[in-house]
Amino acid sequence: MSNKSDELNAIAEQVRACTRCPLYKTATQGVPGEGPANAEIMMIGEGPGFHEDQQGRPFVGAAGKFLDELLAHINLKRSDIFITNVVKHRPPNNRDPLPEEIEACRPWLDQQIELIQPRVIVTISRFAMARWFPNEKISAIHGKAKRFGHLMVVPMFHPAAALHNINLKPVLIEDFKKLPTYIQESKKADAGVSAPQPAPQKDPPAEQLRMF
Ligand code: URA
Repeated sequence: MSNKSDELNAIAEQVRACTRCPLYKTATQGVPGEGPANAEIMMIGEGPGFHEDQQGRPFVGAAGKFLDELLAHINLKRSDIFITNVVKHRPPNNRDPLPEEIEACRPWLDQQIELIQPRVIVTISRFAMARWFPNEKISAIHGKAKRFGHLMVVPMFHPAAALHNINLKPVLIEDFKKLPTYIQESKKADAGVSAPQPAPQKDPPAEQLRMF
């Protein structure tokens, strides 16, 4: 495989052909996610909705438009980030994805994270949040970054939630404004890691895996 983009495209092709859970039977097509292979920020939603299912692209409906607005507040465009979902085929009538569907789809998300190695993952759905913060409430931890090895994970409210509850709009805007700082912190931490280190001991730890 020549480069990361090709590998990402290969994953996308496999997602489109995926039959690991029954969701492919009722969906129009798989929605693998999109964005650059070297994205510093990865956003993870819940699953494709009606429009995403029709177009094969993530966050193209009303929530996606608001997401574009939120990104504009921090001078980012959709094409700067990688955006995907916990499940890649639309659950019928937008019902919640089932635990077994999330589990069946997990290897695709794992591979996308492993390949892209984003600095920051923003979870924008409770199912994405549950992966890193299984027992937390979004109201308590939104906008707060937590480190997992090299990776920072920031839970945020789903943009669609702010379309239903107008009070959440300023909250999301403020949380998005923290992202540039988190990116800077991540870069500083990496610079610290690559600074001269004491001589390794007999059994040096394997290069720290990016945890997710
Ligand atoms: N909501 C999601 O969680 N994902 C999408 O792709 C669209 C809406």
